[in-house]
Amino acid sequence: MALLPIITVPDPRLLTASTPVEAVDDALRQTLDDMLETMYAAPGIGLAAIQVGIAKRMLVMDVAREGEERDPLFIINPEVIWVSDDDQSYEEGCLSLPEHYAEVVRPAEIKIKYLTRDGAPAELHATGLKAICLQHEMDHLDGILFVDHISALKRNMILRKLVKAKRLQEANV
Ligand code: NI
Repeated sequence: MALLPIITVPDPRLLTASTPVEAVDDALRQTLDDMLETMYAAPGIGLAAIQVGIAKRMLVMDVAREGEERDPLFIINPEVIWVSDDDQSYEEGCLSLPEHYAEVVRPAEIKIKYLTRDGAPAELHATGLKAICLQHEMDHLDGILFVDHISALKRNMILRKLVKAKRLQEANV
C-alpha cells in the first residue's frame, strides 16, 4: 500500500468529469486500497479518485466515528437511483480545500447502484452522514466541489484564500 498525493484547489483536474471504470481488476483494487490508506492518513471520511489525480468514477469512504470499528466502502461507477424529498444540512469540508468549511444542504437520503471492490453489482441506501459523504464524493466525479453548493460570495472568499495560501506556500519552498 502507498500514500498518494492529494491535489487541491485551484488544480484544474478537480473541475473535470471522470470517466467510468471499464474493468475491476487487481490493479484497480490496488489503487482503491491506496486511496483508502491515503484517506485514513489525511485524515478524511471520503476520497474520490480525481482527488489523487485519477479521472475514474470511483471513491472510497468510511464514516465510522473514532473508537468505532472501521467500515470502509469502495464504490465504483455509482449511479443515483433515488433521493429523498427531505433535505439535511451539514458543515462540510474537503481534503482538496483544506481548512475551509461551509454548511451545505443536500437530500437527506440517497439510493445508488454501483460496483463493489470485487466488481459485483450492488445497491446502497445511505442516510445521515453516509448520505452526505456519498453525495459529496459523487459530486467530485462530475468536477463539482462542495463550495459550488453555497453562495457565490462565500465560495469566492474561500477560493481566493486557498489560491493565496497556495501561492505563499510555493513562495516559501
Ligand atoms: Ni471532497
